[in-house]
Amino acid sequence: MVEAWYMDESPDDPRRPHRLEPGRPVGLEQLRGLGVFYWKIKIFYEEHLHLDDEIRYVLDGSGYFDVRDKEDKWIRISMEKGDMITLPAGIYHRFTLDEKNYVKAMRLFVGEPVWTAYNRPADHFDAREQYMKFLAQMA
Ligand code: LAC
Ligand code: NI
Repeated sequence: MVEAWYMDESPDDPRRPHRLEPGRPVGLEQLRGLGVFYWKIKIFYEEHLHLDDEIRYVLDGSGYFDVRDKEDKWIRISMEKGDMITLPAGIYHRFTLDEKNYVKAMRLFVGEPVWTAYNRPADHFDAREQYMKFLAQMA
């Protein structure tokens, strides 16, 4: 589980934990109130898309994001601790753990958080059409 806390005001080495004394832990609810979401990825290997960008930050461990290219071939993107990725709205993708079997990832949103995933086929959505237009433009 991710841990968060209020910081002290000390100007020394930022790599130290800088926990306020006495400690003031910050819970997931409080982070949510700031629009910061934390989510533990289980299995999301079903191919899907979203109507908003998917922004992911890997806090720990590792895993694979697979995305479809223009010819509908899978591209595998290896992600590990410290990596961040944004997938555009309308792109078909999926996620899996790798053989190490462990990942902690955070999902970030621009504006209202919407978690809905639409499994393929989901071609009728405007986000999909927009993305296809984008691809055509990049050609
Ligand atoms: C998701 C991923 C894992 O939609 O693609 O949360
Ligand atoms: Ni997704």
